[in-house]
Amino acid sequence: MIKKYKDVEDSKVVLSELMLPSHSNFSGKIHGGYILFLMDQIAFACASKHSSTYCVTASVDTVDFLNPIDVGDLITLKSSINYVGRTSMVVGIRVESENIKTGEIKHCNSSYFTMVAKDDKGVGMRVPGLIINSNDEVRRFLKSVKRIEMKRQRQKEFDDEDFSHDSYLSDLENYNVKIELKEKN
Ligand SMILES: CC(C)(COP(=O)(O)OP(=O)(O)OC[C@H]1O[C@@H](n2cnc3c(N)ncnc32)[C@H](O)[C@@H]1OP(=O)(O)O)[C@@H](O)C(=O)NCCC(=O)NCCS
Repeated sequence: MIKKYKDVEDSKVVLSELMLPSHSNFSGKIHGGYILFLMDQIAFACASKHSSTYCVTASVDTVDFLNPIDVGDLITLKSSINYVGRTSMVVGIRVESENIKTGEIKHCNSSYFTMVAKDDKGVGMRVPGLIINSNDEVRRFLKSVKRIEMKRQRQKEFDDEDFSHDSYLSDLENYNVKIELKEKN
């Protein structure tokens, strides 16, 4: 029977991988795209575990690469469900690298992937609710709610249909742009 609510613990996924030379760029650092690939994989695993079905990636929140990762580092990705909606889930991911010889651990990046649960016909499927039972889990849930609200607000404010530059031109004065409008709005 599909559970109505699930614990955050039930779907946590951890993935560790040694960084090989084949994943590096010309300066011996690991490609950001490869890290994103691993993040997408772990988000998929975590969301699929929570929803007990396969999921698709709907959106990826900002990924700031805080520290480079070297060939030979052991990276560890930790994921957990931060938020659930009706068919969507926000998976929080933290990536750390460890220098095998010195044991030094660095925080490389954190990001939030929105995953949507699908049934066998590709239709969105309702996901179990989330049991949140720690201060951190409450904080992460509320932070996701805030990010979703901010994204909606941003999309609404800069919607193609309604956008008019008139009220924004003065905001651009302090930026590295030269305004040469060719069309009248
Ligand atoms: C993402 C996708 C499932 C949304 O489908 P849709 O028909 O627009 O569905 P809805 O508008 O009903 O949204 C479904 C849920 O996804 C959420 N969602 C949709 N687009 C989103 C986005 N860009 N960011 C965050 N959440 C999003 C909605 O808020 C909704 O959440 P809820 O059910 O928890 O309330 C659909 O656009 C899709 O399949 N995209 C391709 C996914 C894919 O192939 N990913 C791999 C990339 S190659």
